[in-house]
Amino acid sequence: MSSLLILGAGGHGKVVADAAEFSEQWGNIAFLDDKFERDTKHAQWDIIGRMQDLALYAGEYDGIVIAIGDASARMKWMSQVHALGFSLATIIHPRAVISTNVNLGEGSVVMANAVINYGVKIGAACIINTAATVDHECQLAAGVHICPGTHLAGNVSVGECSWVGIGASVIQGITIGRHVMVGAGATVINNINDDLTVIGTPAKPIEM
Ligand SMILES: CC(C)(COP(=O)(O)OP(=O)(O)OC[C@H]1O[C@@H](n2cnc3c(N)ncnc32)[C@H](O)[C@@H]1OP(=O)(O)O)[C@@H](O)C(=O)NCCC(=O)NCCS
Repeated sequence: MSSLLILGAGGHGKVVADAAEFSEQWGNIAFLDDKFERDTKHAQWDIIGRMQDLALYAGEYDGIVIAIGDASARMKWMSQVHALGFSLATIIHPRAVISTNVNLGEGSVVMANAVINYGVKIGAACIINTAATVDHECQLAAGVHICPGTHLAGNVSVGECSWVGIGASVIQGITIGRHVMVGAGATVINNINDDLTVIGTPAKPIEM
């Protein structure tokens, strides 16, 4: 089994570690995180240092993955990993269903019961969370998070660092811009411009 260094030991980090272990591809899993004491146990895994210790440990592990929910932070840490000359591992829960014709970018994670259908292209450092479905020929840019139980119909395009909230549905052919937040349970039936938060059925921009 290959050893894995995970950046970020919060709830998402634990789910990523668990999926990695389940896959039986990864063992000897350790975390870097600033909110925990160095050299302590976190669940069954070790916290070996702080995020800024990345350069010390990066070369000691077979794979590195970033498990930080905040997309901008995920992208920032991906650049740091690249600057050290490494690329990111992908983590796929063995009970996810992924078509043979899918491009999954480096550092992306796919959780249990997710389904990714034919012809989908997923950028780097994306999260396809528990029981989310991404249907045929969708295109997800880097840093996108498709939350648990969310459904994207075919040919949906999602821009960089956008987040489609838990239980949302997006009809076919929709384009969601960059840095968009789709609220929990929303139904997206119109294209969404960059930098908006939308909620409801049909999804509309939130009034500030
Ligand atoms: C959309 C969202 C980002 C808005 O968060 P926010 O900016 O903090 O907004 P607020 O909580 O202040 O709510 C603002 C208004 O929108 C409403 N609202 C917020 N989220 C809503 C949602 N998902 N659906 C319908 N209405 C919503 C609130 O009731 C409130 O209405 P009011 O002004 O009439 O009282 C957030 O509520 C949300 O849905 N996040 C998704 C979380 C998620 O998917 N988590 C999964 C983690 S894996």
